[in-house]
Amino acid sequence: MTTYKGIVLAGGSGTRLYPLTLSMSKQLLPIYDKPMIFYPISVLMLAGIREILIVTTAESLSDFKNLLGTGEDFGVEFTYVIQQKPEGIAQALILAEPFLAGSPCCLVLGDNIFYGQHFVELLNQATRVEQGCTVFAYHVTNPQRFGVVELDAEMKVLSIEEKPKQPKSNYVVTGLYFFDSTAVAVAKTLSRSNRGEFEITDVIRSYISNNKLNVSLLGRGFAWLDTGTYDSLLDAGHFVETIEKRQGLKIACLEEIAYRKGWLSKEQVIARAQLFQQNAYGKYLLDTAT
Ligand code: DAU
Repeated sequence: MTTYKGIVLAGGSGTRLYPLTLSMSKQLLPIYDKPMIFYPISVLMLAGIREILIVTTAESLSDFKNLLGTGEDFGVEFTYVIQQKPEGIAQALILAEPFLAGSPCCLVLGDNIFYGQHFVELLNQATRVEQGCTVFAYHVTNPQRFGVVELDAEMKVLSIEEKPKQPKSNYVVTGLYFFDSTAVAVAKTLSRSNRGEFEITDVIRSYISNNKLNVSLLGRGFAWLDTGTYDSLLDAGHFVETIEKRQGLKIACLEEIAYRKGWLSKEQVIARAQLFQQNAYGKYLLDTAT
């Protein structure tokens, strides 16, 4: 079986959210009851991935280390690398080369939130792929802001374009990508785009040319939430609040996922719960483990 390693991209300048992100990384902002980065990390964990690289800026590195540590609180292993300048998502693959050491990887953007039924099945399908790339497509009203895919009737991707002025469809690629071990070499061949970045869509395009791109559709019942503006950030928090209060189940509770996967013992979860014993998160952890 192929063992995928995980990469969370948590750099960038976050200028669109100034002054919120003047002194704090965007991916550490709260989404209701937990920091934003918990959500993409939960996706990797749900995919069964335990070796995770956090790509961040020099300024925010210590904040991420304070929050996440070695990963032992979550039954995983975190490694950290600094991206000196936000020169594009594809650069993360190059920075990750020593960490990956030839393994395939799942790259997730640190500001992407996914929620929906059967998601774990889709993740499992993606981790079963030995050669190729899997991306997740989603129908949106504003495709100009994203990587846009043109699909044929069989959901095969015909083309991909980054932030096109005239999008060929309403289907966009979300910030979750599964790559085989050839992606690093592809990333190294890229030149900068018109906006000066090493684009992840260019990496994906090379898989299209080789007929090795799989697309998984996140359908109507699925929530892929944006966190890029003040309003969407608040909306995402309200979404999580609504679901969690209604169901009494948490979204992206890393300790719970680790416990259910057998990566943390009952005692470890109880010890962690004691840290937050004053609040609902601590009570939830305690209820989960007892
Ligand atoms: O969210 C999905 C979209 O993400 C895709 O549809 C696009 O194809 C893809 O290019 C990307 O577009 P964005 O414009 O949303 O990317 P953005 O520059 O906002 O970066 C996404 C996250 O990655 C953000 O949290 C910051 C982080 N980042 C970004 C760059 C360019 C880094 O850590 N380093 C970087 O160099």
